[in-house]
Amino acid sequence: MPEIARNLEAEPHRLRVELGARAYDIVIGAGILARAGAEIKALANGRVYIVTDANVADQHLRALRHALEAAGLETGWTIAVPPGEHTKCVAELDWLILALLEHGLERSDLIIAFGGGVVGDLAGLAAAIALRGVDFVQIPTTLLAQVDSSVGGKTAIDTVFGKNTIGAFHQPRLVVIDTDLLATLPERERRAGYAELMKHGLIADEAFFSWLETHGAAVLAGDPDFAPEAVYRSCAIKAKIVAADEREAGERALLNLGHTFAHAFEAELGYSSRLLHGEAVSFGCRMAAAMSARLGFCPPSDVLRLERHLDGLGLARRPRDLDLPPLRPSDILRQIRRDKKTKAGRTTFVLLKGIGRAFLTRGVDDEALAAFLQDELT
Ligand code: GLY
Repeated sequence: MPEIARNLEAEPHRLRVELGARAYDIVIGAGILARAGAEIKALANGRVYIVTDANVADQHLRALRHALEAAGLETGWTIAVPPGEHTKCVAELDWLILALLEHGLERSDLIIAFGGGVVGDLAGLAAAIALRGVDFVQIPTTLLAQVDSSVGGKTAIDTVFGKNTIGAFHQPRLVVIDTDLLATLPERERRAGYAELMKHGLIADEAFFSWLETHGAAVLAGDPDFAPEAVYRSCAIKAKIVAADEREAGERALLNLGHTFAHAFEAELGYSSRLLHGEAVSFGCRMAAAMSARLGFCPPSDVLRLERHLDGLGLARRPRDLDLPPLRPSDILRQIRRDKKTKAGRTTFVLLKGIGRAFLTRGVDDEALAAFLQDELT
């Protein structure tokens, strides 16, 4: 198996999220799940509890347990929560924490969140509040979690008042990203995750976006010669922004590029699986770019460049590229106004001055927004 031998020998990429006393490493590479035990061993003072979901457990749990045992770590207990967004709820959080306590969780133990964004958000929040806070490590298994939700310490569950309405900032002690795990993801989920990865280039790194224009297809395919570098460059952008503004007092809001539109569509569809978050981010980014051009901030040629990239990889550039029910501009506008980024009737938008040059503005007036949505959706 020369391929695997090469992957294990390659030095992983290593990034530091510079947060003072809460600083941590992100370790990225193809095949590095096998090294997870050694990485975690350096942090663990007690037992290690694994929180995962049933799908990830079926595919990858044996490999993780093997890596932990090989490093001599004592595993306390493993729990597989049901897959899917509905798991991010008070009842599951309550059950998870009580189960961890029943199985002897102590403050010096460590929780591993092993899965996609749902597992990371739920296990991270459990780690934030169980025993007033225990350490946790993120081992994300989806592209979306690898480039976005596992980095930055946002943990949360959903309520009837919306997504992520109960949560905490609780930084992981370490993030271990094995890009080989992406091979088992359905194509649709990989595309959805790619939108968040590309988003970081749009926000702050034109050179990275340009690199993706050449290598995006290889990244999407999980090619070990390109996927680790793409995840590394994407995480580096996010890590820098998080280090500058951990609690989203300002700059971190740039990471919401495309999300005001994305969340409005997701909310209007009741967060149904007909529209994955990353799919909404894909066309949400294009809408943000198109609105930026319409308001005179961004050259139209950059919008075309983004559209070419999305088209080339089969990502949605408009809601109508997906098989969605008809959506009315007035309903999307209503959802935007309900968004938590709207204050005193003004929504904070992330717009572009060009690819790699995002900025925040509250200066988009309602009439311009309504006219834009009308043109986009009809
Ligand atoms: N997903 C955006 C953030 O972590 O701030």
